[in-house]
Amino acid sequence: MSPLYPYLLLLVFLNVNGFLWVPSVCQESIRLNMIHRHHPKFEKKTGVKAPESPMERLQQLIRLDEKRIEMVFRMREHRRKVAEAVVNMTTTEKQQKRQVLSLPSSVQLQLYSGSYSYTNSYVTTFRVGTPPQRLLLITDTGSALTWANCIHNCSDCSRKHRRRRIFDADKSTSIRSIPCSSEMCQVGLQEFNAYYDYCPKRKSPCWYDMSYSGGTTVIGFFANETVTVKRRNKGHTRIHQVLIGCTDPTGNTDFSEADGIIGLGYSPYSFAYRAAMQLGGKFSYSLMDVLSSRNVSNYIVFGEDNKKMQMQYTELVLGKVGTHYALNVRGISVGGVMLDIPPYVWDVEMGYGAILDSGTSAFALPEMAYRPIVDALKAALEGYPPVTVTGLEYCVIVDNTTTFDESRVPKLVIHFADGATFEPPVKNYVINPGEGGRCLGFMPTPWPADSLIGSFMQQGYLWEFDLINGKLGYALADCT
Ligand SMILES: *[C@@H]1O[C@H](CO)[C@@H](O)[C@H](O)[C@H]1NC(C)=O
Ligand SMILES: *[C@@H]1O[C@H](CO)[C@@H](O)[C@H](O)[C@H]1NC(C)=O
Ligand SMILES: *[C@@H]1O[C@H](CO)[C@@H](O)[C@H](O)[C@H]1NC(C)=O
Ligand SMILES: *[C@@H]1O[C@H](CO)[C@@H](O)[C@H](O)[C@H]1NC(C)=O
Ligand SMILES: *[C@@H]1O[C@H](CO)[C@@H](O)[C@H](O)[C@H]1NC(C)=O
Repeated sequence: MSPLYPYLLLLVFLNVNGFLWVPSVCQESIRLNMIHRHHPKFEKKTGVKAPESPMERLQQLIRLDEKRIEMVFRMREHRRKVAEAVVNMTTTEKQQKRQVLSLPSSVQLQLYSGSYSYTNSYVTTFRVGTPPQRLLLITDTGSALTWANCIHNCSDCSRKHRRRRIFDADKSTSIRSIPCSSEMCQVGLQEFNAYYDYCPKRKSPCWYDMSYSGGTTVIGFFANETVTVKRRNKGHTRIHQVLIGCTDPTGNTDFSEADGIIGLGYSPYSFAYRAAMQLGGKFSYSLMDVLSSRNVSNYIVFGEDNKKMQMQYTELVLGKVGTHYALNVRGISVGGVMLDIPPYVWDVEMGYGAILDSGTSAFALPEMAYRPIVDALKAALEGYPPVTVTGLEYCVIVDNTTTFDESRVPKLVIHFADGATFEPPVKNYVINPGEGGRCLGFMPTPWPADSLIGSFMQQGYLWEFDLINGKLGYALADCT
């Protein structure tokens, strides 16, 4: 048992959403590397090559963004349907909470369309079970369930599934399946489409079925498992009772680059929540400029990041926009002028608003926010020959005979409702794909939609998610 354990129960209180908070007093921290799909190590681990030229790499990221935007859109549609169904329900039905979940029968939520295999997110090596088995998982701040391709109760599975890596549940002494009769399965895990009405025996595992619109089916059962993570300094830390989905890999053929997902979204069942709670209530990550230099390392730290830096803080809106980390934006100014964007675009109470999403590269905004922003910035690209990058409206050629005059680009500032501001450097929104060009790093999305503040906008900063106090800290950092 972890030496941390006795400290965990020192303080127990409830946050606004009713989750149980169990902060620890320990200053230990753990670190996972996050490998971007264009990093040389990604190819080593997955066999998937990055495109050769910087412009092709940018083009690939933008194509992936389009899928990601669609996925986030599906997730919000699902939430909207569930919310509407709850409003329509009678009181008795509401008491029988499970009714809610039988309504949207075609739910395609957390894992829409297998398109996860195409996200821009980062992969990391993760050690699951006892003794630990190494898996390559996608780190995703947009989803909350951690799952892996997994075999169990089977003798010839290894022959059936010729995958590089697979989690063998039978070889782990620490796996505990969640009983289908438990409150956790019947109510708590409904957000992940747990079957509440399939329970042959009280102790049978709690199953889930996430059918993708693309025809892929992900079926599995929920279990608590122990995860082993490297400590910042030395040694390892074990995190117990992490909820993982043991997914039958048979129907799951789309998902070839990685072995599953680490859910870093906001939910009492996400790995981020579990790890942060064991390590002081916070996690943070730092993303480097992936386009100009492929060989940069990114990481995520649970617990206090040892770096002492001057951070700015704004409210982190938790539990209002699904499992996403939302921000309370008041407006965006360019060149000191507040842009005319309808306020409802930022309304987190209505379930819209801006979310920080490392699985998207560009800054995706609904048309009525996108248009004023690019209109205010496009003049800075005048005079350079245009070039087409599908998905991005404004791209120009800046070759080695021209220099790009950054001083012509007006300053973009995101203003938060609590008075904080985020003033990114020009390269975070006038994207420099390396040699050859510049693009305005924004994508329009049809309303209704969340605004996704993607990794371009986030690069060069350390982002600290304080889940206990609902605070987001950010500071320029060199991320190494
Ligand atoms: C809720 O009720 C409204 C109005 O009666 C109806 O239009 C809507 O389809 C209902 N929604 C669901 C999910 O049943
Ligand atoms: C594996 O098989 C055992 C014995 O048949 C059974 O008790 C257990 O529930 C099964 N586990 C799963 C995850 O199906
Ligand atoms: C799984 O973990 C959760 C969260 O710690 C806990 O409440 C639950 O009792 C555990 N269930 C099993 C079967 O271990
Ligand atoms: C990338 O970084 C690693 C370690 O910092 C170094 O050994 C390697 O030579 C670098 N590769 C390139 C292509 O720069
Ligand atoms: C500019 O780039 C072209 C091809 O991209 C190359 O042939 C040429 O040598 C470069 N010129 C300089 C001055 O680097």
